[in-house]
Amino acid sequence: MSAPVSPAADRAIDALMTLFPHKGSALLPALYLIQDEKGYVSQESMSYVAEKIGLSPVFVAGVVTFYTMFHRKPVGRHHIQVCRTLSCALRGSAAVVEHLKTRLGIEVGGTTPDGRFSLVEVECLGACDMAPMCQINDDERHLLDAGKIDAILETLE
Ligand code: FES
Repeated sequence: MSAPVSPAADRAIDALMTLFPHKGSALLPALYLIQDEKGYVSQESMSYVAEKIGLSPVFVAGVVTFYTMFHRKPVGRHHIQVCRTLSCALRGSAAVVEHLKTRLGIEVGGTTPDGRFSLVEVECLGACDMAPMCQINDDERHLLDAGKIDAILETLE
């Protein structure tokens, strides 16, 4: 199978497999590497990494679908993940999502036509004391309300 990643990424995954007693332990960092390069983890990429590491395709698909940090399709340049778990729900995450849907003109799971923003709901991101919160790419944003969301969106290209 030809690699759906660059030769450099292919070599980096080879190197990752040498770092662990069981090469299967390289799966998560390999998936991150693929996502960093491609923007998401395609079905082709899952098959590639399964064969390369020696895992079943079903196992790899299970990992990719379990963790919300892995994207199975291209996402916006600013990927907005709103926590919907208890603390955030009690402190207004539904209103946060509604405001974002209105501002961006998309539904949950959607991406704006210009590719700038995508919006999803996720489970607890571990910042419950700062609820309601979201993560935009790798940055957490806390204590959200409509005004704060508007201010954040203004800062994003
Ligand atoms: S419940 Fe939202 S960050 Fe934990």
